[in-house]
Amino acid sequence: MIGRLNHVAIAVPDLEAASAQYRDMLGAEVGAPQDEPDHGVTVVFITLPNTKIELLHPLGEGSPITGFLEKNPAGGIHHICYEVEDIRAAAERLASAGARVLGNGEPKIGAHGKPVLFLHPKDFTGTLVELEEI
Ligand code: CO
Repeated sequence: MIGRLNHVAIAVPDLEAASAQYRDMLGAEVGAPQDEPDHGVTVVFITLPNTKIELLHPLGEGSPITGFLEKNPAGGIHHICYEVEDIRAAAERLASAGARVLGNGEPKIGAHGKPVLFLHPKDFTGTLVELEEI
């Protein structure tokens, strides 16, 4: 059912330092920071030949990654995103298999303007999984 790895999202305490590290130490193609007020994050997209890395930093009050950074002050992998062709079919299949879809179970429009949903990390070996319809 799942297709390509779309991105790995890493929450970082210092967006500028993390961007510089990927650009200067690792020689990656690093974009400019983009505020995503609807998602409570500022994102830096890093384009690799076979996937993307997204550096996430809290934006505004009540950001969904504030608690994560409190628990992981040095930063850490926040979620991984797999591509699916039909997100509603994927959600139904997962729910019937007992996996918990976060929120109200309905796909939302994600940071790339495509429908996404998140699966409970306790159902996926401690990893927050995002599915994005491509
Ligand atoms: Co994501």
